[in-house]
Amino acid sequence: MSEVVNFPRTVEWRGGLPGILRLLDQTRLPLEEHYVELRELAAVHDAILRLVVRGAPAIGIAAGYGVALGLQTERALAPAVFAARARAIAAYLESARPTAVNLAWAARRVVERVEREQARGADSGALLEAALDEARAIAREDEAMCEAMGAHGRRLVPRSGRVLTHCNAGALATGGIGTALAPLYHAARAGQKIAVYADETRPLLQGARLTAWELSRAGLDVTLITDSMAARVMAERRVDAVFVGSDRIAANGDVCNKIGTYGVAVLARHHGIPFYAVAPSSTFDLTLAHGGLIPIEERDAEEICAGFGRRTAPKAVRAYNPAFDVTPAALVSAIVTERGVIEPVDEKNVRAVLSAASG
Ligand code: MRU
Repeated sequence: MSEVVNFPRTVEWRGGLPGILRLLDQTRLPLEEHYVELRELAAVHDAILRLVVRGAPAIGIAAGYGVALGLQTERALAPAVFAARARAIAAYLESARPTAVNLAWAARRVVERVEREQARGADSGALLEAALDEARAIAREDEAMCEAMGAHGRRLVPRSGRVLTHCNAGALATGGIGTALAPLYHAARAGQKIAVYADETRPLLQGARLTAWELSRAGLDVTLITDSMAARVMAERRVDAVFVGSDRIAANGDVCNKIGTYGVAVLARHHGIPFYAVAPSSTFDLTLAHGGLIPIEERDAEEICAGFGRRTAPKAVRAYNPAFDVTPAALVSAIVTERGVIEPVDEKNVRAVLSAASG
């Protein structure tokens, strides 16, 4: 891996005010590196819904900018009405996808900043500037959190460098070098040989389309497998650790992530392989006591029956398509955050690590 890999910017604000939101269209990877330029709020909602931008931290960054984008046309409103409009825009964006808490966290953070400035007597032009400033801060902080997770998680990367990952929790899913992939990038930067088995991640193939693309572009050794091959790969002793990201982590350390993650964790436990989740503090939801309370997004059955435009199931068949599952804390060996490593995973340690200063 080269010292600094030039990852494409997944989410970027272009221009000042007015500006546009530029997204790398992840639905077109790995065939095309195509960017979309969004000028309207509805387009941001649609991009989140369709997974043009995806991965919990990246969705959060897009939502933060989305609130600023939606407010650009509202600066003629009186400040109190402008703040109310910010709340409505945030609620609208939050409705795009329910599971990744980063979305609501970021949108509400921008709204709270607007409300604070309004309470201080700022006019609507200044409120709009504050909204963009807060969205930019969220993006900057996410990049720094990825580096910190990489630094904290590096010691967990096995000496063999042989790991398995599920879905995409790398640069494409964040504003930096990723969550689950960050410790691997740090280890590779330090000269360690890394070899990753990437689950293809049915039904939308984030592992095949995105993780395989991103890791090979960064110069890391990557081998693609179908999800159902993970058991065989573990039984053959080909991996020594599992690293995954998360969309929401409950107070007790239950980890919600892409559908199939729970199965990987069960397999890892059976084979005596450590299972690590890597996520920034913005992914924790301490208002939820356990993972059973996390809302699980259910997506269109057509993603299973006619994925990528090719019908593979009879037209009349019923299909169930939950996009995420919950891995109980008991199966998680450690959770890496930008504030340190939670190990063992229980509510006391979750709260202790999260209350530590970041870094
Ligand atoms: O449906 P997606 O592609 O948004 O799901 C993404 C995942 O499940 C990731 O593993 C998770 O968001 C962690 S991203 C750093």
